[in-house]
Amino acid sequence: MTAQQPQAIYLEDYQAPAWLVTHTELDFELEEEQTLVRARLSIKSNPESGGKRQPLVLNGHEDMELLRLSIDSQVLDSGDYRREGELLTIANVPDQFVLECVTRLLPHENTALEGLYKSDGMFCTQCEAEGFRRITFFPDRPDVMSIFKTTLTAEKSRYPILLSNGNPVASGEESDGRHWVTWEDPWPKPAYLFALVAGDLEVLEDRYLTASGREVRLQIFAERKDLDKLEYAMESLKKAMRWDEEVYGREYDLDIYMIVAVDFFNMGAMENKGLNIFNTSCVLAHPKTTTDAGFQRVEGVVAHEYFHNWSGNRVTCRDWFQLSLKEGFTVFRDAEFSADMNSRTVKRIEDVSLLRTAQFAEDAGPMAHPVRPESYIEISNFYTLTVYEKGAEVVRMVHALLGPELFRKGSDLYFERHDGEAVTTDDFVKAMEDASGRDLTQFRRWYSQAGTPRLNVTDSYDEASGEYQLHISQSCPPSPGQEHKQPYHLPLAFGLLGMDGTELRSGVLEVTAEEESFRFTGLNERPVPSLLRGFSAPVKLEYDYSDAQLLMLLRHDTDGFNRWDAGQRLCIRLMQEQIDAYRPGAEPSVPDALLNAWSELLLDEQLDPAMLAQCLKLPSEAQLAELADTIDVVAIHEVRKGMRKVIAEALEQQWLAAYQRCDLKDVAYSPDAESIGRRSLKNLALGYLMSTGREPWLELARQQYEQSDNMTDQLSALTLVVHSPHRESADELLQNFYLQWQHEPLVMNQWLSVQASDPAEGALERVKQLSEHPVFDAWNPNKLRALIGGFCGQNPIHFHNESGEGYAWLADWILHLDRQNPQVASRLLTPLTRWKRYDAARSALMQKQLQRMMDTPELSADVYEVVSKSLV
Ligand code: ARG
Ligand code: ZN
Repeated sequence: MTAQQPQAIYLEDYQAPAWLVTHTELDFELEEEQTLVRARLSIKSNPESGGKRQPLVLNGHEDMELLRLSIDSQVLDSGDYRREGELLTIANVPDQFVLECVTRLLPHENTALEGLYKSDGMFCTQCEAEGFRRITFFPDRPDVMSIFKTTLTAEKSRYPILLSNGNPVASGEESDGRHWVTWEDPWPKPAYLFALVAGDLEVLEDRYLTASGREVRLQIFAERKDLDKLEYAMESLKKAMRWDEEVYGREYDLDIYMIVAVDFFNMGAMENKGLNIFNTSCVLAHPKTTTDAGFQRVEGVVAHEYFHNWSGNRVTCRDWFQLSLKEGFTVFRDAEFSADMNSRTVKRIEDVSLLRTAQFAEDAGPMAHPVRPESYIEISNFYTLTVYEKGAEVVRMVHALLGPELFRKGSDLYFERHDGEAVTTDDFVKAMEDASGRDLTQFRRWYSQAGTPRLNVTDSYDEASGEYQLHISQSCPPSPGQEHKQPYHLPLAFGLLGMDGTELRSGVLEVTAEEESFRFTGLNERPVPSLLRGFSAPVKLEYDYSDAQLLMLLRHDTDGFNRWDAGQRLCIRLMQEQIDAYRPGAEPSVPDALLNAWSELLLDEQLDPAMLAQCLKLPSEAQLAELADTIDVVAIHEVRKGMRKVIAEALEQQWLAAYQRCDLKDVAYSPDAESIGRRSLKNLALGYLMSTGREPWLELARQQYEQSDNMTDQLSALTLVVHSPHRESADELLQNFYLQWQHEPLVMNQWLSVQASDPAEGALERVKQLSEHPVFDAWNPNKLRALIGGFCGQNPIHFHNESGEGYAWLADWILHLDRQNPQVASRLLTPLTRWKRYDAARSALMQKQLQRMMDTPELSADVYEVVSKSLV
C-alpha cells in the first residue's frame, strides 16, 4: 500500500472545532462556462476548544480553483497559507476576523453530483455530507453552524428562478440581462444544509397555517413538463406538517418551504433548510405515470425531508458518526406518519421485509457496521440500511420500552435541550432517560455493536400447576472488528394463544440477559407463543414451531404482523427443504395444509385485501438468499417459481375470483390505502394466474395492459408478460410501452428495470444492448440504478451466471463510473461484496473482479473503501 491510500478517520479522535463561523455571506455569479463564488466568513476562535490558539484549517476540494484569499481585507499571498490535498491551512490568524475567499467552479463539468452542478440545464447543489467544500473553503463539518446570507446572480432569461435557504430579502436587475436575488436564513446551520437552485422552473403554490397561526408559503418547483405531477407531493407536505404538530408538537419555523425536483441526483432527496432538493423519482406523481409504490414513496420521502427540519436541522449531528441521530430518528418518524396515513400493518410488513433482506445481509457482509460507526474512509458509504433502517428500529425500541407518553416527553426534552446544537446519539438517549427515569445504559449497545442478534426461544409447560415458561437466550455473531458482543436490552412483544386462537396473555417482556426465563401462571392449556409481535426488535428469532401452530397463528393471531410472519415462516421452511434437496428438473410440491389455509384466506371476504396480498406472497428470492448458508441462486429461483406454479394451479379459480373482486374498473384512480390494497391483491392474483402458463390469463394481462388508466395496473401487466415465457407478447408490449412513454424519464426507468430483471435466457446480452439505447444515459444515476442496479440486484440467476460474465460486466461499469461519479459507483458495487455467501466457483469469480478493481490505480475513496474491506 502506498501513502496515497485513502485514510480512515475515527470517532475516538473527535475534537471540538478550533474555529467557529458565526456568519457566512456567499455571492454566486452563475455563468455558462464557470461560476465565481465570493465567500465572506466571520470567524472567531471557539472558547470551548481548549485555550491555545490553533492554525485555521479549512476544507476545500482539490478541483476547486482558489482565486483570492484575504483576512480582514489584507490579501494573502501563497506564502501565507498552505494547500495540501483537501486542506487549506493558515498558520497565523487573529482571534476574530473576516476571511474572504474567491473560488472558481465548473458546475457543467461536475459529474459527481456533489457540490454545485447542473441537472438538465438548471443549477443545483448537494452538500451533504461533504459537498460544501466543493463550493468554497470552509470548516465543512456539521458542528460548525453559521448564519447564511446568499446572493445569486445569473442571466434572467435562462434562470428566472433563483433560490436559496431562508427568505428572499432583496432582488434586482442588472443592465446586461442578468438579475439577482438575496436570501437570508435566520437559523444557524452547518454547511451541509446549504442549497441553491437556479433555473427556468414552474411552480405549484399553496399555503399552510401553522398551529400557532403563522402562514407559510409552500412552493414546489419542477420543469414545465412536470407541472401536472406536483399535487400529490403538496398534499403529502401539508399532511406531514400537520402530523408533526400533532404527534411531536413541532411547527415549521420559516415563512417559505420550497421543494425542487431535479432529474440528476445521487440519492432520494435532501433536507436543505427551507429548500429541499428532490430526485424527481421521489416528488413527481401522476396516476398515469406513477405506480402505487411510487405514490407511497413520494408521501414518505416528502414527509421524511420535512421532519428533518427538526430532527436534523434545528437539532443536528455533532459529527458524521452520529448520522443515525438524524436519519434513524427521522425514518422512524416518517414510518409512523405513513402508518397513520395508510395501513399500519402493511407498512410494518414492508419495512421489516426490507430490513430482513437487505439490512440483515449488510450486517452479515464485509461492510457491517454499528448504527453509530466507529470509523470510515468515505462517509458517503455510510448512508446505509444500518444507519437508516436499523437506526429507526433502535428508536422504535425506545418507543416500545418507554411507551408513547414518556417517549413524547423524551422527544420534547431532546428538542428543547438541544435546539440549535450539534449533538450525539448519546445525547438523544440521555434525553429519553432523563424524561422517563429509565436506565438505558445497556440499551446503548444497540448503537455500538454491529450484527444481527439471534434470539433462541424454547418453552416448557407444567400441566399440573398450569405454569408456562419461556426460556430466552440471545447471541450475536462476530462482525468486522467486533469478535464478542455483550447482551442487548430489547423489548419482546408477545401473546400467548390457545390452540383455538383465543388470546390468553399478552404484553412486552424486557430481555436483558444472555439467558433468562419468564414465568406465566394460571394457564389451563399449553399456549402457542406469538413472539416478537410487530417485530418489536431487529433480531432473528428462532422457535421450533410445528406446522399446525404456524397455521393456527396465520389464521388467528390478533397481531397482524405476526399473522403474516407465521405464514412466511411456514413457507420459508417448506422452500428451504426443497432448495436443499434441489435437483434440476425436480417438481416442487406444496402440502395440502398450506393450500387449504391459503384457500381459506382467499375466500375470507372480510380480510383486508392489502393484508391478504401480503399473506399470499411467497418470500422473495432475496429473503431466501439472506437465510441460506450458501446461496444457491438457481435452486432458490427454480423452487420458488415451481411452488408458485403449484399454488397457481391449485387455486386457479380463487385467484380469478380475487382478481375480479378487486378490480376497480370504472372507478377513477386514487392512491388511498384501500384502493392500493385492492390493486395489490388484484395484481398478485394476476401474477399467479400467469404462473399457470395458460393462454386465457395472458389475454387477461394484455387486456389489463391496454385498458388500465393507471401506471400500477399497466406496469404490473407489462412486467408479468415480460417475465413470462410468452416472448412475442413481451416484445410487442415493451415496444408499445416505449412508444407511449419515451418522453417520460421516470417511466423509462421502469421500462429499463423490467427488462433488466427479466429472468429469460440472454439477459446479459439484453442489458448490454439497452446500455446503448437512447433512453439510457450513463450520467444519470436513476438510469444507472434502473439498468445496472436492476440487473445485478434483481436478476440473481443471470447476474450470478456461472460464466462470471455478469460480474465482469459490473466491474467494467464500476471502473468506468468511478471516474465520473464515485458515490453511485460505490453503491452499485454492493452485490459483489457478498462473494463469500456463494459456492466456491462463483465466489472465486466475484473475488477476481474485486481484485481487478483493487489493482486499478487511483480508485476513489468511495470504491476503494468498499473493495478493500470486501477483500479482507
Ligand atoms: N439526508 C438525506 C436524507 O434525507 C440524504 C442525503 C445523502 N446524500 C449523500 N450524498 N450521501 O436522507
Ligand atoms: Zn434523511
